[in-house]
Amino acid sequence: MNMKKDQSKTPLFDAVTNFVSKNPTPFFIPAHKMGRGIDPRWLDFAGENIFKMDLSEVNGLDDLHEARGAISEAQDLAADAFGADHSYFLINGTSCGIVAAICTVASEGQKIIVPRNAHKSVVFGLITSGAIPVYISAEIHREKGLLGGVSKDKLDALYAENKDAKGVFAVSPSYHGVCCDMQGLIDVTHERGGIFIADEAHGNHVYFNEKLSRGALALGADCACQSIHKMSGSLTQSSLLHVKGGRMNLGRLKSNLQMTQSTSPSYILQVSLDLARSRMATQGRDILERLIIMSNAARKELSALPGIEVLGDDLIGEAEIAGYDPVRLVISARKLGIDGYTLYRILRDRYNIESEFGDYFYTVCVMGVGSEQEDVDRLIFAIKDISAGYKGQCKPLSWDEALPPTPPMIITPRAAHFSERTFVHRNEAKGRVSAQMIVPYPPGIPVLCPGELITEEICDFLDGFIRSGRHFHGSESENQDSIAVVSERK
Ligand SMILES: Cc1ncc(COP(=O)(O)O)c(C=O)c1O
Repeated sequence: MNMKKDQSKTPLFDAVTNFVSKNPTPFFIPAHKMGRGIDPRWLDFAGENIFKMDLSEVNGLDDLHEARGAISEAQDLAADAFGADHSYFLINGTSCGIVAAICTVASEGQKIIVPRNAHKSVVFGLITSGAIPVYISAEIHREKGLLGGVSKDKLDALYAENKDAKGVFAVSPSYHGVCCDMQGLIDVTHERGGIFIADEAHGNHVYFNEKLSRGALALGADCACQSIHKMSGSLTQSSLLHVKGGRMNLGRLKSNLQMTQSTSPSYILQVSLDLARSRMATQGRDILERLIIMSNAARKELSALPGIEVLGDDLIGEAEIAGYDPVRLVISARKLGIDGYTLYRILRDRYNIESEFGDYFYTVCVMGVGSEQEDVDRLIFAIKDISAGYKGQCKPLSWDEALPPTPPMIITPRAAHFSERTFVHRNEAKGRVSAQMIVPYPPGIPVLCPGELITEEICDFLDGFIRSGRHFHGSESENQDSIAVVSERK
């Protein structure tokens, strides 16, 4: 956290509020004209100032796509706060940054190493660029039914087989808070001459408190894509993309960002990035200190309850897990026979607690700059009540399923995406090429990606999976029994 600039500055917020205070006659887009055309019910509820800030590239407000003024200054402050060389505001979420970054690193026919369980924006990046994915799987923590980290030795071995790969994409921390050995992965990538892109959608707060795992940029990543809205307090959809070192082609990145982002970027979102960066840079350490104390105390109290597990530091050292993000409470009641989806629903319906999501084992409760002790107290109360109510009544859930071998890729994700497709029953899918992903939970690794051959082992696995009453993610039809496949040429 060696910041050199005055991080209390908020140049874009200042420029926008200054513009609004001049009360100009608005003949610019958007049509609501600084709030006057907004539905009165919404104005009553939200207040007028937020709408006055919904502006376009008017005098003094710079232009995201050719930043030279207030936006450029705000982006430079972000670069300083995160230790990057260049930072770019993203108004279409980290998703658009990931697509732009992948397209910058690998073009049609070039290889890039990506995690098999990557976010769907990675798949869209592959579709857009035409790059060939070389998939690497995270290790599986079988006992916990959880995806662990990616092994640096596995990455090195994979790179040795794919020496022409242009780079590596990796996620840390995961949605469940699991951190990889990012230093090891970055070093392997650079030794092999590749470019390293870090997906820090869930890990941008880590830059502001030394008790948290180190951010990828500090470890030498060439590019980091971060959902500031998820973890550092900006508005939904606002993210940052950072670049460090000389490996990324900046001209190409800029042109890709222009194409993946709206030509009418929201100033409300951009201002929220300016303010969230300033807040985290100046107060983040204390804010995070409070969150860490609060969540660690809750983790301890909840873990002591009958039938309740909460993920934490004890995972470190297993399944290539190098760290754990404490600023989330990932709770399992599987020993009480309650799966994560059900726990999610119980918390919502009986206790009015909205968690982030539930999967087979876990319910993920994410904390953030706005979390309060009383929120955590309510969660503790609810989980205590659930634990007491269900004790000893149900059969614990377990998972020890073998996954089918990764099938061969017949065509690229891009070719699969743009080909004619048809739906076939899973019993008739053997030998066809998948046009979709199929992701079973646990552990959240796709058994099938677009362009891959549907093997007998995959059909058998899906049969057992669906018969057990579970649902996989990624389905393109309402019916879990049918799979989108590439149409056969007549
Ligand atoms: C690991 C990961 N990467 C990227 C994204 C995309 O982020 P955003 O929602 O900011 O577009 C997500 C969103 O959930 C994610 O979980």
